[in-house]
Amino acid sequence: MRVPEPGIAGGADRAVSLCAVGHRVRVAPVSAEDIAPYAKAIASSRERLRVWNPVSASDLGWHLSRQSPDHRTFMIHALDPGACAEPGSEPEHALVGKVNVTNVVRGRAQSATIGYDAYDPYAGRGLFAEGLRLVVGLAFARMPHGMGLHRVEASVQPGNTRSTVLLRSLGFRRRGAWPAYLLLPDASGVERWRDHVTYGLTLPEWPAEPFTLPIRRVPPVAVVRGQGAEAVLAARRVAAELAVPLLRTDAFGAGGDEALAAVLADCPDGAVVLWPAGRREEVSALLASAGLNPDQVAVAQAVHLDDVRAVARFAARAQALTVG
Ligand SMILES: CC(C)(COP(=O)(O)OP(=O)(O)OC[C@H]1O[C@@H](n2cnc3c(N)ncnc32)[C@H](O)[C@@H]1OP(=O)(O)O)[C@@H](O)C(=O)NCCC(=O)NCCS
Repeated sequence: MRVPEPGIAGGADRAVSLCAVGHRVRVAPVSAEDIAPYAKAIASSRERLRVWNPVSASDLGWHLSRQSPDHRTFMIHALDPGACAEPGSEPEHALVGKVNVTNVVRGRAQSATIGYDAYDPYAGRGLFAEGLRLVVGLAFARMPHGMGLHRVEASVQPGNTRSTVLLRSLGFRRRGAWPAYLLLPDASGVERWRDHVTYGLTLPEWPAEPFTLPIRRVPPVAVVRGQGAEAVLAARRVAAELAVPLLRTDAFGAGGDEALAAVLADCPDGAVVLWPAGRREEVSALLASAGLNPDQVAVAQAVHLDDVRAVARFAARAQALTVG
């Protein structure tokens, strides 16, 4: 068979909107012709998909009826379906997978959520990853070839390592964690609100290197000055509010400032430092040796952090100082 050249399908003179061709797969928006192969793909893959993403054959008709610039379903097709079939048998279908690009918010967000599945016998052979890369490229490509988006996100259950590593292999970065994010059944069919981790990419980051780390930014660092149980409690509350570690000076012992500075410098998401009230000048030296600008570090006396409102205000101030 003739294998099309990889890239946006159609070439410069006959560009086909929302289509792309890779080395082993091509990607196109869902059409009525996909309904029958989809039913076969689902039938062979349902058991594997059930745990993470319950699907039914009627899903595709539902998505097909909703296609618009703000709701796209991309089908990933194998260019050579025979390559994955059992020797001597014909493949039942050529669908590698499906990617929904939905929850599109236009205006100043230009964002969307992606959800996806890979189908047997193509799953686990690298074809889906190639197709998802093409879909993300189309999501970011300008209209009418693409969807013209600026941000794409996907949320994954922490136990779904395959999906997580797939996103990381495309350069998606971890953006945050959600408790009780989606109502989904477990392996035994019991539905429960499941925790998820959100991964995302923006257009300036694309195409992204595999497994790229977060872009280094100024993390929120706060210093709480004080001693005793009340000060520890206040510092703990600030750390919880900012979702960062608490570094207690007393835990590093006498002469431990160097170690504390080293640990602080290795806190990529920031930290709260509980610092003795009396040691005023050394805190600047500590921040400097951790590579931090004291002007971007919020400092408060523990005695002023005596209620939840004061803690939230101080944490918000620490966060605001991170804006470069
Ligand atoms: C998540 C999911 C879509 C990934 O699809 P997939 O077909 O397994 O993904 P791919 O094979 O394309 O992705 C890369 C994997 O293939 C391997 N691979 C890459 N190229 C390959 C090749 N030429 N031959 C064989 N394997 C290859 C990679 O090493 C990687 O495997 P690894 O993580 O074990 O190292 C699929 O597992 C799935 O349908 N899961 C259930 C539904 C689901 O979780 N949906 C997402 C909810 S957030």
